Amino acid sequence: MYKIVSKKELRPKIRSYEVYAPEIAKSAKAGQFVIFRIDERGERVPLTIAGTNLEKGLVRVVFQEVGKSTMHLASLCEGDYIRDFLGPLGNPTKIKKYGTIVAVAGGVGVAEIIPVIKELRKVNNKIITIVGVRCKDLIILEDELKQESDLLLFATNDGTHGVKGFVTDILNDVLIREKVDMVYAIGPVPMMKAISEITKEKHIETLVSLNPIMLDGSGMCGACRVSVNGNTKFVCVDGPDFNAHLLNWEEIVSRLELFKNFEKISIDKFKNNRNCKCHKE
Ligand code: FAD
Ligand code: FES
Repeated sequence: MYKIVSKKELRPKIRSYEVYAPEIAKSAKAGQFVIFRIDERGERVPLTIAGTNLEKGLVRVVFQEVGKSTMHLASLCEGDYIRDFLGPLGNPTKIKKYGTIVAVAGGVGVAEIIPVIKELRKVNNKIITIVGVRCKDLIILEDELKQESDLLLFATNDGTHGVKGFVTDILNDVLIREKVDMVYAIGPVPMMKAISEITKEKHIETLVSLNPIMLDGSGMCGACRVSVNGNTKFVCVDGPDFNAHLLNWEEIVSRLELFKNFEKISIDKFKNNRNCKCHKE
């Protein structure tokens, strides 16, 4: 059992938890993830490791409530326990000197990109971070992002912070002004796909951290399969980072839709039965 040592509401429906898991904290590297299961009947849910505290043995995860399992997780309180918290899983992000890197994060991807840019900066890369959210009120962890970036730029759909528009508008602008050696992106699939289309044309190496539906997280079930240059790969064991230009994006988009109807039924059932001591809508 794994204890939730701290719980913070960063924004409505976006929460940051620190979970006591000293073995994971000790070995986790940037880009890796955990799979949690709240209780013996729960489904397995992957979340990126958004930071560790070695001294206290804590692992930070930041998640958005989108469906049954993340709602259930959000309903737990400080001091509650999670049944399984397995990790670190997946391959760490390759850390090396590229030169100038544009790091793009969408939504809750901000929390996931922080450990990655922190490590890439340690080896003397210049980091230009671009963050995209719907509006100013959804920006999270701005101080940490500032600390780990040489330049931090925002795109909001409604123009309430930074540029009015999309991360791709800023990326196009940066690519005109700067010689960029690598682009790293994490966030919603349509965002990563759009970035890949821009950088492919300009022949700029681009890595994306994929977030498909996962089941076992051990390369056995095939739920997270993607096609890379025509070959089948499993995101849980071969990823989560992949060369964006070799991915079959249409397949990734369609596979995310596979369980939509079941997910809706599951959310409705959970909402009807919800009974916890600290949950707020
Ligand atoms: P469901 O009922 O399963 O789904 C609800 C809605 O969310 C549906 O519309 C569904 O299509 C969509 N959805 C489900 N799974 C995903 C997914 N993987 N990506 C995008 N949309 C999805 N989420 C975070 O908030 N923080 C993280 O740090 C994080 N890291 C991840 C790392 C990896 C390696 C992977 C594979 C996924 C990660 N995710 C992260 C996504 C997270 O696992 C899903 O949001 C979660 O599984 C949804 O479960 P649910 O039961 O709450 O929602
Ligand atoms: Fe089963 Fe990756 S989650 S193979």
